This record gives sequence, C-alpha cells and structure tokens, in this order.
Amino acid sequence: MTSIGYLAGFETLDTETPGVELAWQGTPPAWLNGALLRTGPAKFEAGATAYRHWFDGLAMLHRFAFAGGKVRYANRFLQSGDYRDTVKHNAIARDEFATNRAGLLGSLFATRLTGNSSDNGNVNVLPYGEHDMVALTETPYPVRIDAKTLETLGPFAWADRLDCQVTTAHPHYDATRQLIYNFEISFGRKTLYRFTRMAPGSHSRSVVAEIETSEPAYTHSFGMSERHLILAEFPLVTKPLRLLLSGRPFIETYRWSPERGVRFTVIDKETGAIVRRAEAGPCFSFHHVNAYEEDGAIVLDLVAFKDARIIDALYLAGLRAGNALPEGLLTRFAIPLGEGPVTQKVLSSLTTELPRINYRRLAGRRHRYVWSAGAASGGFLDCLVKQDVETAKPATWSEKDCFPGEPVFAEAPNAGAEDEGVLLSVVLDGEKGRSFLLVLDAATMQERARAYAPHVIPFGFHGNYFANAA
Ligand SMILES: [Fe+2]
Repeated sequence: MTSIGYLAGFETLDTETPGVELAWQGTPPAWLNGALLRTGPAKFEAGATAYRHWFDGLAMLHRFAFAGGKVRYANRFLQSGDYRDTVKHNAIARDEFATNRAGLLGSLFATRLTGNSSDNGNVNVLPYGEHDMVALTETPYPVRIDAKTLETLGPFAWADRLDCQVTTAHPHYDATRQLIYNFEISFGRKTLYRFTRMAPGSHSRSVVAEIETSEPAYTHSFGMSERHLILAEFPLVTKPLRLLLSGRPFIETYRWSPERGVRFTVIDKETGAIVRRAEAGPCFSFHHVNAYEEDGAIVLDLVAFKDARIIDALYLAGLRAGNALPEGLLTRFAIPLGEGPVTQKVLSSLTTELPRINYRRLAGRRHRYVWSAGAASGGFLDCLVKQDVETAKPATWSEKDCFPGEPVFAEAPNAGAEDEGVLLSVVLDGEKGRSFLLVLDAATMQERARAYAPHVIPFGFHGNYFANAA
C-alpha cells in the first residue's frame, strides 16, 4: 500500500513565484537548454465554495527554464476569465467539468448559451503557431500566454465561424503537412462530431470531417496516424437535451452504456472520408498514446480502463481519502482498414497513465517506447515507467514517498535511438513536503539530476518541453 504522502498534491497553492534559481543535485545533460512549460489545477476553493473534482481546479502555469547549466522556476495563475471572475466574486463563477456554480442550475452547455463558459486552461499547454502559446481545457476557449513570463495575454480569437461547445486539449501536430488537427463536438438538434485542421499561426480551423451522432461520447483525445484520424467512441455517452436541461455538472450527464462497446471511426486526413468503422468490447480511456498503419491495419495504443469509474475516482474527496486508482493498462488495438475484426492485447500489466512517446519523431509512426506515470503499489501514481512495447517488462523509476507526474520526453540533439534523451517530470516528495523537477535518462531510467522547487506543486496534467526557449 502506498503511503498517502501525496495528499499535499491536491491542496491549493496560493504562492506565485516570479522566477527563482533552483539548485541542481546531480548533473543534467549540457544540451538541456530550453523550458518545460506545464499547467494544472492549483486552486480548489473560492470563498465558501469548493471544486469537487481534480479536473476542476483553477489553472496555474509552471515553468522550468534551463540555460547555461542552471535551472530557474516560476509559477503563475492563468488569468483566465474563470480565474478573474472567481477571485472577484470570491466564489466559483463558472461551471467546470464536475462542478457547477453554486445555486445555479446549468451545465457547460447551458452556460455556453449565455457566453459564460470555462476557459480554465488547466489541461495542456502547447503552441498554436510561432506566436501563440496557449493553455487549453476541453472547451474551445484557448488562452494565450507569454511562454517566457507566464503572463496571460488574453483569449485566442478564432477567425472561423465553427461553433462547438467541447473539444480536446490534445490536438495533434502533423509535421509533414504542418497542420494541427483537433476534434470537437457541436451539440444541438443535430449533434456533430467534427475533426478540424488548422495551420500553425492561423486562427482559422477548417472541417476535415463531420459525423452526426445522437449520443455523443466523452472524448479526451483521439488517434492520428500518417494518413488517418481515429475517433474511439467509448461507451460513456450523453444526450444533448440531458446536457442542457439536467442541471447536473457536465460530466455527470454522461452514462456508462457498455452495450455500445467501443466504436472506432477511421477517417482519411486528406478527403475526410470514413475509411472504416469497427467495434470492440467496452472500455474507457482518456489518453491515446499513438497510432500507425502496419500490414493494412491501424495499430492504436491507448491506456484502457475496464469502465469509466476512473472519472469517479478522481473526485477530490476520494483522492484525499487515499482511495486507490482503478487499473488502467497500456493496450494495443489493431483495426483492419479492410474487412476483419478489431483485435486487442494488453502490452503491460502495470497500471499507468499520462503516457508520452518521442512525439516529434514518431507521431503517427511506429513507436517502440512509451513513457508514463505508473501506480506500482496500488495507490496513486508512484513511479515512472518506460515500456518497450516489444517486451512485456517495464523499466521503472521510483523512490519512497515520491509521486511523479507526466514524464515529458526531451530528445537529445542529433539523437540516434528513439529513446536518446531525458524525461522531465515534476515529482512530489511527500516526506520533504516539496516538489522537484526530476531529470531521468530516458533510455536507462536512471536519475541524472533533480532540482527542488520552493513548495509543493499541485499535481498537474500535461506540459511540453521547448528546446532553446529559455
Ligand atoms: Fe489529458
């Protein structure tokens, strides 16, 4: 049983740090020059009101900058509309994933109709072009930030006329086509799944494909191979009317409907045509890992849970009570592009989440290594994992009372092997009561260096490393 020294990771952090040099223990590689930018929830209460779910907390940005062998840390709240309204009223001002505003009936969808929808970019931070670093949540309201100062610059203004209420904070970048792909849902009398593409630097999406649905599935990410976009509809579905009228928080309008199974739709990136529809038995996933085409099939890796109870497990009350996470396993699906059934196999028996690959090189192409945070002791995420998908045995890093977040892969310059580089992960040291940035050799999973931050950094979700951005 894991200790529950991780509970500090679910507490509000009020301190903002303009920039402080941290002391290295160990020696990071000399080529590590750039910045790790991350986002995550950091404020869980406002006045007498409190958010209910890990995904709800107000976003804080964190930056570790590497230059000349030194590391500097800064953190700052995202000055989103959510944050400003909530601080001003000293009460939760907008509906979130699993928390509605106090005393108001409504949902994310209903509030969208009044123009008051979440822009709490606590899920991911990435570039939408050379001049637009954005913090994202699962609504179409990216917030622009200054990647150097963490200052909030304002909303990312769409120049197109596409209307949707939810999207993913996991857009894909196709480096060959130089296009950003994303998935969104437009709820209405006719509800549409929509894949879009956008050139970096543009503010205009165009439609790749639209698919009508009467029971939209909760979709946190999607798959992308070199030629295809892949939608996996897990059987956690809502109905637009229920979303609009139930008065429940957004995610609580979704129902687990295992009889639907998982429905895969494979779409041609160029034509938008549906190339294949196929089904598999029920499971749930937040995170696709990667997808690629091999022997006439789409090979698609994701972290699969038996059902959607992982969402329930991430309510703050349960997390703070030390409840264990449900089992989530790295799972491979093969979806024939022609006829034939979908096959699936579990690639590792270790519960894992927040998966990353060498994305720059291998997005949409065959990968061998998946790095993630694992739960080896049956509690919260307590180790970092390197999974060689060609063998069943994972390599791990762990330390007593230490709880790591997502491992971001930073590739060595002129790297040969796929795993030549380091992993950057923010780890909560439950014993010391502080978090540190851990630098692991991504090939060997051995520690290269660590640098303690001045405080606990609440558990975040995603971030990225930007070379030469310090
Ligand atoms: Fe995510």
